[in-house]
Amino acid sequence: MARSPLDLDHDTMRRLGYLVADTVADHLSTLRDQPAYATLDTAAAERLVDRRAPTHGTDFETLLATLRDRVFPHAAREPHPGFIAYVPSCPTYPAILGDWLATGFNFFAGVWPVAAGPNEIELVVLDWFRQWLGMPDGTSGLLTSGGSGANLTAMIAARHRVTAGDASLIARLTVYASDQVHSSVTRAAWLAGVPRDQVRSLPTDDDYRLRVDALRESLARDRASGFRPLMVVANAGTTNTGSVDPMFEIGAVCEREDVWMHVDAAYGGFSVLTDVGRRALSGIERADSVTLDPHKWLFIPFECGCLLARDPGRLKAAFQILPEYLADVQTGHAAVNFADYGEQLTRYARAIKVWMSVSYFGTDAIRDAIERGMMLARRLEARVAETPGLEIVSPARLGVVCFRARPRDVDAAALDALNERLLARIVADGRYFISSTRLRGALALRACILGFRTAEEDIDGLVDAVADAASRDAGVTPSRSAGART
Ligand SMILES: Cc1ncc(COP(=O)(O)O)c(C=O)c1O
Repeated sequence: MARSPLDLDHDTMRRLGYLVADTVADHLSTLRDQPAYATLDTAAAERLVDRRAPTHGTDFETLLATLRDRVFPHAAREPHPGFIAYVPSCPTYPAILGDWLATGFNFFAGVWPVAAGPNEIELVVLDWFRQWLGMPDGTSGLLTSGGSGANLTAMIAARHRVTAGDASLIARLTVYASDQVHSSVTRAAWLAGVPRDQVRSLPTDDDYRLRVDALRESLARDRASGFRPLMVVANAGTTNTGSVDPMFEIGAVCEREDVWMHVDAAYGGFSVLTDVGRRALSGIERADSVTLDPHKWLFIPFECGCLLARDPGRLKAAFQILPEYLADVQTGHAAVNFADYGEQLTRYARAIKVWMSVSYFGTDAIRDAIERGMMLARRLEARVAETPGLEIVSPARLGVVCFRARPRDVDAAALDALNERLLARIVADGRYFISSTRLRGALALRACILGFRTAEEDIDGLVDAVADAASRDAGVTPSRSAGART
């Protein structure tokens, strides 16, 4: 039988596979010798590869070398020990291989009958998460592309519950969250059709936690004005500071008001595996739905988010659709078609990588790695507090610490400018990649320590580097990319 030229033979597949495995292993085992961050301007990027689609093929070794040597260096190294910017993703190697297995087998995890085995793994993984959070039996959902997708899916399901398909109600919908909520929640409300000025940004207390009195007042005011409260979003680990909203109290308000309580626990959620995290997140079990991001603090590669719903039937009510060309794969009540629970029909088997990693290491090892991130955050806080010229802006919460340089006799504007310069210097140096945020209007350097490669020396080295840069500051801002090693 004639073989398609696209169909590689067994030996070739193995040989090429090993080349890729070697490349990834080389990369991951030499991260400390690489910069944590590197980038390229668009003009230089345009010269990296030929922009025309090739009509003829090229040997795999050449292509791999092009990617490895010309393309990949111009990117941040997410799994680098010094990558403590934004919300890092530091995947385990078994999780990476699990991802490759899912891709290699190319399961269609949208419907049950064509991927029953992998779909069962997704149900298993979802139930692990449910148990970790302490949510009731029957809670389930689906794995998503990320936290943004999970937040959007929850918002659409809640909208369906309130409007029951009556689009005329959408204009009166309101959504409630603190001024610290992640932008993906705000965008989810917009995408669900909630008018932008009806997404209520509520004040927080000194610890950046949603003020429940403000929530109550806002709900009462809106009800009196004829609005229809759609959802209250509580944060279980804000992106800015790691704060956790008072979920127990928020749950009580939502129950009394009959409003959907969603918890955005995208990165903070997996801290429930630790004692500190479990205490911090108590009340999360009251939620109607919870967003989790295994590609953050569960050490899974991009893309892997999760939405859990106390009543998954509400997801199904919002999303299920039965076209005639899918009649063959409609299932009975017992089997789950994940395509009925979100916007994705074709979806890959994300659960394989989660199952592989958690099963390979066990939850004790995963818990220890999460605990270690929190310990390092506390160490960073302590080191900053004892270093002259530096100050804590927001203490260690979950894995996040915000701090800044604060020499004496500097006004607020000059202080922001100074810290911007320090940030640029630290990033350009290449050993550490941190980011910034604004808290109560002031610029703060922000570290988010989630990766399992980050060590005590990295934390100490970062503090020394910031203090050193502050002491040498001459008021000149270097270009961020210019100094990045590539
Ligand atoms: C609290 C929180 N929610 C949601 C998101 C969005 O998640 P994703 O980037 O996976 O879409 C993030 C991302 O950092 C986050 O920190």
